[in-house]
Amino acid sequence: MYYGGDYNPEQWPSELWPRDAELMRAAGVNLVSLGMFSWSRIQPAEGEFDFGWLDEVIGILHDHGIAVNLATATASPPPWATHHYPDMLPQLADGTVLWPGSRQHFAATSPVYRRLALELVTAVAERYAGHPAVVMWHVNNEYGCHVPYDYSDNARDAFQGWLRRRYGDVGTLNTAWGTDFWSQRYTAFEQVLPPRSAPYSQNPAALLDFRRFTSDATLELLVMERDAIRGAGAAQPITTNFMGPFHALDYWRWADELDLIADDSYPDPADPQSFRRAAFTRDLMRSLGGGKPWILMEQAANAVNWRPANAPKAPGQMAALSMQAVARGASGVMFFQWRQSRSGSEKFHSAMLPHAGTETRTWREVVRLGAELSPLPEIAMSPGDVKVALLFDWDNLWAVSNPDHPVELDYTDIVLRWYAAIHRQHVQVDIRTAGHDLSAYDVVIAPLQYLLPAAAGTNLIDYVRRGGHLLVAGFTDIVDEHDAFRDGGFLTQLGPTLGIRLEDFGALPECDGVSFRLDGADHTGTTYAEEIQLAGATPLARFSTGRPSDQPAFTSHRAGAGVAYYLATLPDDDGMRAVTRHVFARAGVTGVLPGAHPDVEAIRAGGYLVVINHTDRHHAVTLDRHYVSDNAPVTEVELPPFGYAVLCRPSEAATNASDRQHVPARAHGSVG
Ligand code: GLA
Repeated sequence: MYYGGDYNPEQWPSELWPRDAELMRAAGVNLVSLGMFSWSRIQPAEGEFDFGWLDEVIGILHDHGIAVNLATATASPPPWATHHYPDMLPQLADGTVLWPGSRQHFAATSPVYRRLALELVTAVAERYAGHPAVVMWHVNNEYGCHVPYDYSDNARDAFQGWLRRRYGDVGTLNTAWGTDFWSQRYTAFEQVLPPRSAPYSQNPAALLDFRRFTSDATLELLVMERDAIRGAGAAQPITTNFMGPFHALDYWRWADELDLIADDSYPDPADPQSFRRAAFTRDLMRSLGGGKPWILMEQAANAVNWRPANAPKAPGQMAALSMQAVARGASGVMFFQWRQSRSGSEKFHSAMLPHAGTETRTWREVVRLGAELSPLPEIAMSPGDVKVALLFDWDNLWAVSNPDHPVELDYTDIVLRWYAAIHRQHVQVDIRTAGHDLSAYDVVIAPLQYLLPAAAGTNLIDYVRRGGHLLVAGFTDIVDEHDAFRDGGFLTQLGPTLGIRLEDFGALPECDGVSFRLDGADHTGTTYAEEIQLAGATPLARFSTGRPSDQPAFTSHRAGAGVAYYLATLPDDDGMRAVTRHVFARAGVTGVLPGAHPDVEAIRAGGYLVVINHTDRHHAVTLDRHYVSDNAPVTEVELPPFGYAVLCRPSEAATNASDRQHVPARAHGSVG
């Protein structure tokens, strides 16, 4: 289990470095991410490198038994570079240049940036590839975070090249984009621009392709750096830090290129439900890797500095959020950053070692977590632990965010709300796409599969035929991969499996809701109430109020060995719980810890059960199976505010009893 954080020693006099290393050891730190923003110190001028200071820092860390996740330092080009090559700067859609003075001021497609970055990463990798302290490589930092999209001339040229490769000839592009609408027909690829500020709505297919292109073009940087590191002979795992369900990069594609998935995560401590988004993100990271290791690369030890009001974490909250990752198999818990910065725009951001030093709650909690993590067993989900898949993909995130739909929908927000409804029932989920192999799941939930490529549609149909339970919510199977309607209108693929026809979307003005009655309770639908016709399906609920009264709201249909459900509205949170509960009951899916408080998280992974209290109150949890903690049987767990416990099945305890390392600790909270 790795424990540590970003370390920026160049911000401090070298006399402090040995002291830092000693304090790191006191905190249980065994890994630091080094050099994340060190370009200007490593390369003071083009062709000139200064590794002396970095050699010294790595040497000190190594002498103290602290390993290094070595960054390639390409995330913030130095002033000499942008001064000589202003052409590398990115631009907004309106032509505004993003000047230096902050960070990430590079156009991903700039040939000059790519050349300079390659020179730097090659030099760094050649120097440290064989260093025994370096156990991991960290490419760049949070790609796309501040500059998700670039509209510069560099981007224009690269976009045209990407379109040429994708479509071959401009006629095919015209067909895919439907350019006969508003006289947009191109006669040469050179005429195609990034979607720069325009008088009115842009071509949605062009917007979608520009987003795909941006993700791919940024990914080229990662691959370029990764290959340079490998080319220098480095054998350590290579990663870059993701940002949860970040909107601009298709992490499904990115994950394929990495050895190790890494995530940066900053749930708002002031929001008592922010742990649910964090839980989703951790499940997403676990799922993206498909078995590859993953690590919580950055989180805050306490408050951040970039919200309008930066609430501190409650006592214990940092550990509780960390345990969400550990329970889902994370191989490390890391922070931004080790020592709080003296200067710069993040000087108010918390760190493991605060300005106020070691006589602080932050430091005590950091030390305590380090001590609690080290004896923990390796916890990893086994294949049978998860019976439900929730579909999430970037093509839909992008296509749904295009303008001019019947009603505005926030794709990520909707997926997260469905996730929350499931999570509150303590049902474990994998995140998948409609194209993945879904055969391992009893239930698949498609919250908003607006864009459904033919192969993905066939996959969902097969899943049901073979015995799966598929829950499909509205505005699904509307367009093809070019954001265009297919012949036959909507639900052209899933309609027969669902046993319904969709006639109209029935957008609801914000003030209007509809209700439907399911399993003896009334629930509210919002945003839309679709007009559907039964074509074999059984109505499980009908709308009981408003315009669509008496029309089907929720249906089920047997298809082959499985059942397909359709929900014709976007329910409120309570309605989402009711609908998923209904489907889970029919499919025989049960929660990990039925009866536990919804804000107490329970994660079952292999022979382990981790329970985490995300509230500021005490909660008692009654266990439904035999577990042990510290080799003593446990039937009930008393969790203090933000407390957690790691329990294991008796068989695990027996297997691991001979090895102290593998005996689960009674961690943070009284058990028994
Ligand atoms: C991200 C970045 C860090 C730092 C933190 C602040 O994690 O990678 O460099 O800016 O945000 O929260």
